[in-house]
Amino acid sequence: MSANNPEANPVVVLDFGAQYSKLIARRVRDAGIFSLILPYNVSAEEVKAMEPSGIIFSGGPASVHADEAPLCDQALFDLDIPILGICYGAQLMAQQLGGTVERATKREYGIAHLDHTDGSRLLADLDAQTQVWMSHGDMVTSLPEGFSVIGTTENCPFAAFANGETKRYGVQFHPEVVHTTQGVQLFQNFVHTICECDNRWNMGSFVDMAIEDIRNQVGDKHVICGLSGGVDSSVAAALIHKAIGDQLTCVFVNNGLMRKGETDLVQEVFQDNFHINLRYVDAEDLFLDALAGISDPEKKRKIIGKLFIDVFEKEATSMGHMDFLAQGTLYPDVIESVSANGGPSVTIKSHHNVGGLPEKMNLELLEPLRELFKDEVRALGHELGLPDELNYRHPFPGPGLGVRCIGEITKERLDTLRDADEIFIDEIRAAGLYGDIWQALVCLLPVRSVGVQGDERTYEEVCSLRAVTSEDAMTADWFRFPPEVLQRISNRICNEVQHINRVMYDVTSKPPGTIEWE
Ligand code: XMP
Repeated sequence: MSANNPEANPVVVLDFGAQYSKLIARRVRDAGIFSLILPYNVSAEEVKAMEPSGIIFSGGPASVHADEAPLCDQALFDLDIPILGICYGAQLMAQQLGGTVERATKREYGIAHLDHTDGSRLLADLDAQTQVWMSHGDMVTSLPEGFSVIGTTENCPFAAFANGETKRYGVQFHPEVVHTTQGVQLFQNFVHTICECDNRWNMGSFVDMAIEDIRNQVGDKHVICGLSGGVDSSVAAALIHKAIGDQLTCVFVNNGLMRKGETDLVQEVFQDNFHINLRYVDAEDLFLDALAGISDPEKKRKIIGKLFIDVFEKEATSMGHMDFLAQGTLYPDVIESVSANGGPSVTIKSHHNVGGLPEKMNLELLEPLRELFKDEVRALGHELGLPDELNYRHPFPGPGLGVRCIGEITKERLDTLRDADEIFIDEIRAAGLYGDIWQALVCLLPVRSVGVQGDERTYEEVCSLRAVTSEDAMTADWFRFPPEVLQRISNRICNEVQHINRVMYDVTSKPPGTIEWE
């Protein structure tokens, strides 16, 4: 294979049912090397045919002693290719090569400190004592012949081990998670020093590969894509357009629940700038009529979700025959589990905004981002030339301001909310804090309060500001604003937004609160 081909000589990750196998592949990509994931039971022949530079065994939930424990092809160990085993993968390698694995007297979960001194290539340039993250019940208790210990923790005498000659390495901890603070260095050492890979994979290579894949999958057929103004669907659309041009049609449904300026921004970027076929559907009245008088959050969500599908389907049908539905599904949206027969199986989160459409309209799914994490998608959007304003936007939920206009939804209340939201985001940007915050939002509350403006008594609406930090939206903490920034925001909202006379700041973390109020 050509050294210029970014897919040549990849690092292959064998998946033993780990929660983290995609994260391992991602760390390898971060180190500049193409990586792909294969099921654990792939044959050594197949692996060899790919001419990989290295192999990584992922962790997994099983015990090597379980009857149905997933084992790898023993012949893999005969290949002259470096292997790194992680957690279960390390135990498996130790056991398959003649060492022993036993149930640990104390299950280890969480942060530990790894000591290492012997100068192994795997742990080169890591601090002599470095923080690692452990999660295991079994552990290696004796090493196969030719192996030696290269790192220990208080509870784990074989926390890292190696046979430098055959380039076989095992670590009991998880170098792929952020809690292993020097994990990135460990992956760099494995792929560059041990596997001797050159640095060559980057977002540009991803674009080239993805374009080829999309062209192969789509052929001369037609793709429809729902644009929401969010990062994921925007990047997916830009990428697919680059691959198949006018075979892609995007649909943007204005449901009346968008932020200020959003409909203009989407049309400007996609129609005027990228010259993508874009159908704009003004469904504001339809949505607001259906939502009139509804305050229950779940009812709101159901109405918005169902109407979106109806409108989208009607628009799609009017365009003639479509073959694919493009979605900006990311890896964290894909929940991976290992099925009873051992193969990884995949299901999609139910909150997907076009749920049910593909079956109903007989559309195949096109999901070119499903291997990527959010920050990689942003890097891809940057590579494709999406404006930063869109690309680095905070997440925005499918039901839009519908779930931030607490209580009854009316056009007037939505306009009030849009004005407050615009000021909040403007001031966050002006303070240089936008990038420090995962998501910032305003909720209009279903209460009124008495105030005094000028010499007048007022009785107006109350809004609550929410800004959170988060890694993945699963947990979140409220953002600590400098008080003067909050003061400026509060002053501007009360002075400039008609109908709001009181501003609250939400100091609830997730859990127990969610990020959105409804
Ligand atoms: P919660 O409120 O559950 O939200 O803490 C977690 C993240 O998901 C976003 N969110 C949604 N995104 N469709 C979406 O595409 C939805 O129905 C939806 N509901 C919540 C939310 O904004 C946050 O980023």
